[in-house]
Amino acid sequence: MNFPFEPFRIKVVEPVKRTTREERDRLLREAGYNLFHVPAESVAIDLLTDSGTSAMSDSQWAGMMLGDESYAGSKNYHHFETVVRGLFGYRYVIPTHQGRAAEHVLFSTVLKPGMCVPNNIHFDTTRANVEHQEAEAKDLVIKEAYDPHCELPFKGNMDVARLEETIKRVGPSRIPFVMITITNNSAGGQPVSMANIRATRQVLNRYGIPLFFDACRFAENCFFIREREPGYADRPVRDVARELFRLGDGCLMSAKKDGLVNIGGFLALNDERWAQAVTDMLILVEGFPTYGGLAGRDLEAMARGLEEVLDEEYLR
Ligand SMILES: Cc1ncc(COP(=O)(O)O)c(C=O)c1O
Repeated sequence: MNFPFEPFRIKVVEPVKRTTREERDRLLREAGYNLFHVPAESVAIDLLTDSGTSAMSDSQWAGMMLGDESYAGSKNYHHFETVVRGLFGYRYVIPTHQGRAAEHVLFSTVLKPGMCVPNNIHFDTTRANVEHQEAEAKDLVIKEAYDPHCELPFKGNMDVARLEETIKRVGPSRIPFVMITITNNSAGGQPVSMANIRATRQVLNRYGIPLFFDACRFAENCFFIREREPGYADRPVRDVARELFRLGDGCLMSAKKDGLVNIGGFLALNDERWAQAVTDMLILVEGFPTYGGLAGRDLEAMARGLEEVLDEEYLR
């Protein structure tokens, strides 16, 4: 494989502690062999998760110093809103402290017991938040996703035929929205093709069901579309993203991935009634709509990270 060098310089370092084999043995025993219980400072190479672990850029750190911590109407919120509207194209932008909070405010507002949410594969917090509302979380990824020996360019795709069967069996009135997770984290971070998203949209149009993206790794997914899907080779990733999100009615995102921040998330959507109801819930559990559980400085870092993640050298 040919890896280009990283298009950035590193100017802050954090020392890494080394442990002996005996210390690691003891640490693992003390943690009950549960890696979530090992103190992080004892871990030399931490592969637990990609979530919230990225280093921020100089511009993001500079943005942190420009935090407007006013309770209402922080200027950082307005910058963040402009960036999200520009990239994702949805009208209402609702910040949350991380992805699962966006899931919670949407699902607790819209889902009712007995309803069903199809997805290519629900991430674990997404499934938990659906089931917490006594609704069914249905995974409908293509069957090849479960075969580790099968190589496909878009192994995260939705099985569109099974989606339609599910809608017919469950009934559209019990499916308030369908989700597509890009990339498909629980299937090994595999991407979803534009053709598959378009086909999903066509099915949903027949039944009047909205489509929401779980957009954690949207930039990576759009980069894979550019690299692997016919017709996209010459398109900027930003344009690919615009085309993709136009096929949906909203998205939710843990910005701890492609937002390149250590904390943050949001929900963005077009439906005014849902946005109003979700905002009421947000005030109850997260905070005022112009900070949603974050500091002004976090919103600024997130706004800058969402722009920077589309740097094509970085994505490559
Ligand atoms: C695809 C996906 N959805 C949702 C989440 C939840 O986000 P958070 O951990 O910020 O609550 C994650 C986190 O790993 C994720 O990967």
